[in-house]
Amino acid sequence: MASLTARATRTPMFRASISSRQPLSRSLTTRATSYKLNTGAKIPQLGSEYFKIPSLRERLSARVYDVEKEKLWCDDYHPDDVERALDDSLRDLDTPYVDLLLVHYPCTSKRGSDRFPRDADGRMILGETTYVETWRAMEKLTSTGKAKAIGVSNFSKDEIETLLRETSTVPAVHQMEAHPYLQQKDFNECLRAKGIHVVQFSPLGNMNDFYRQTGWSKQIAHMMRIIDQPILKDIGQKYGKSPVQVVLAWCINSGRSVIPKSVVDWQIEENLEADFELQLEDMAQIATLDAQARFNDPSLDYEWRLYSDLEGIHGTMRGKTH
Ligand SMILES: NC(=O)c1ccc[n+]([C@@H]2O[C@H](COP(=O)([O-])OP(=O)(O)OC[C@H]3O[C@@H](n4cnc5c(N)ncnc54)[C@H](OP(=O)(O)O)[C@@H]3O)[C@@H](O)[C@H]2O)c1
Repeated sequence: MASLTARATRTPMFRASISSRQPLSRSLTTRATSYKLNTGAKIPQLGSEYFKIPSLRERLSARVYDVEKEKLWCDDYHPDDVERALDDSLRDLDTPYVDLLLVHYPCTSKRGSDRFPRDADGRMILGETTYVETWRAMEKLTSTGKAKAIGVSNFSKDEIETLLRETSTVPAVHQMEAHPYLQQKDFNECLRAKGIHVVQFSPLGNMNDFYRQTGWSKQIAHMMRIIDQPILKDIGQKYGKSPVQVVLAWCINSGRSVIPKSVVDWQIEENLEADFELQLEDMAQIATLDAQARFNDPSLDYEWRLYSDLEGIHGTMRGKTH
């Protein structure tokens, strides 16, 4: 079964197999926080390669980000394609349902087998349907039981308001970029008020080399890596934790789930030990790191001004990133 619980319970087995590394701290209790979605289902605070939420979007992003330069994109947002796309995903995952199905972006691309359809000038060809129509098709899937909950990713405030106004299902989750360099306090509060749970992607900011290699975030991708931030190092020393663990704890102490990505055993182990209580004074210190630095902004590539009313798109040309 593909339930979150079932996946989470695999963690202790995994830990046992890599337990040779000394834990960084023995004095702190590592918690196992979980949050309740607006559907009543539970979602863990921390996901990883080993118990990440199975969803169409996750699978696609795994292909986009982990398979280098492979030209894959979601062209399945036409209402007539949504159920078939989920069926494909269920078959791949060998599961009868997913706990959460996310729509990756508000923009659609042309239907067909070309994941990045482009015109003669190299510009992405957009689909003819809207994310509202896609969402309505996703709503129907919840009644089939194939998707227990539905959510969005990379939506702006206005795009979420549009969904709330024109459809009948409040997204259970918004998966979005958030880290100490891009804190988005107002947006987070707004989502919380609407009962939409936030799952942070790229929680470690510019740690992923992908951002230094793409033009999506220009020079800011080269700002100091989170892992080297003196404030985080100092806080980490206080708790016997690494800067990465402090960042993840900050996410969880802010009431959000977080999906750090790692392929290195000791890093995965370290990340799993990141659910501990941070004192308010330390949360306040981390708040000072906000730089409104958004690293994941493919607006120009996707021919769609993403995040139009959110922080971190300053200094762009013609509303585009590069
Ligand atoms: N919805 C979306 O549009 C969207 C966009 C981007 C990403 N995502 C998802 O978000 C997840 C994470 O995103 P991300 O990869 O961009 O960012 P991330 O998790 O913030 O950073 C990943 C980088 O940090 C390193 N790292 C992880 N744990 C570490 C540790 N304990 N110590 C030192 N380095 C550590 C990894 O190294 P190694 O690789 O060497 O292990 C990798 O280079 C992925 O599952 C991805 O699919 C979603």
